[in-house]
Amino acid sequence: MAQILKIDDALAGALALLKAGEIVAIPTETVYGLAGDATNGEAVARIFEAKGRPRFNPLIAHVAGMAMARRIAVFDPLSTKLAEAFWPGPLTLVLPLAPGADIHPLVTAGLDTIALRMPQGFGATLIGRLGRPLAAPSANSSGRITATTAEAVAADLGDRIPLIVDGGPTPVGLESTIVKVDGQSLRLLRPGGIAAEVIEAVARRSLLREPGAGVEAPGMLASHYAPAAAVRVGATDIRPGEAFLAFGAVPPEMADAAVAVLNLSPSGDLREAASNLFSHLKALDQRGAATIAVAPIPARGLGEAINDRLNRAAAPREVTTGRHQAS
Ligand code: TXA
Ligand code: MG
Repeated sequence: MAQILKIDDALAGALALLKAGEIVAIPTETVYGLAGDATNGEAVARIFEAKGRPRFNPLIAHVAGMAMARRIAVFDPLSTKLAEAFWPGPLTLVLPLAPGADIHPLVTAGLDTIALRMPQGFGATLIGRLGRPLAAPSANSSGRITATTAEAVAADLGDRIPLIVDGGPTPVGLESTIVKVDGQSLRLLRPGGIAAEVIEAVARRSLLREPGAGVEAPGMLASHYAPAAAVRVGATDIRPGEAFLAFGAVPPEMADAAVAVLNLSPSGDLREAASNLFSHLKALDQRGAATIAVAPIPARGLGEAINDRLNRAAAPREVTTGRHQAS
């Protein structure tokens, strides 16, 4: 089983493992990441192996500063502006891979672009000390609920990795927002921890949402973030045997009908809802209900990313993964 160390005691041990090509689960401000040296193919292969992740799905490379970022990717003026405004933070930029960049091709799955992010906190310190970028997908088995606590990482991946660094619950609770500059336009590849409107204000243009040609965010498979239970979104009633994931005030008849209730944000605050999303989904799943009914969530601000994750959790699954029967 993985050793779990608090962040204050973990730096030396995490560094030693990463230098040896091992992988380590670390907290970031968004979600927990499963980190390995992005220049080391064996380390990156270990990440895919531990997650059971399809090889074609590229990873985000995490950097500690602009100098490191510029050795890896070619920055256009708009991407530079966004990096200056939002790094370190929950924004990932997809950029052309720099010629001669020391990044193992498994990280990009052979693409000529790379997803880059500068995280806050422990991750930044670790990358700075290592002096190399870290490839880090979210620290969960492929397709399952994203981990926002060290305990959730341990329950999912604990028997497959040597170390989990415990920084407490991650403050944002949703993965980073992924954008890509495409000529004059800016495309939203994945809604996430920074609301699209906030990015649009800095970029002074609107984010395009329609999918473009070719591989974009191939991780955005229809079914993703899936609990064992089925998920029913936009629920305004409770059907027999359902658990209820509420938002805002809970109608008493819904509370009474549900086998279990958790509230993403009793006051209707989207930031609070984002930070509770994955842990509440997981907790309701553990109550054993066949279906989790989810209250309607407003589409504005972080609601876009919350609805994106919920719709994927609700999507039909090709394989039966638990109590839920594939349809
Ligand atoms: O907040 C986050 O972004 C977390 C923390 C750990 O940093 N990481 C994360 O990584 O969510 P992951 O691997 O679960 O999601 C990365 C997404 C995937 O959907 C992947 O397909 C996409 O980024 N991606 C990676 N490289 C890409 C590229 N070159 N072009 C388009 N999409 C890319
Ligand atoms: Mg993920």
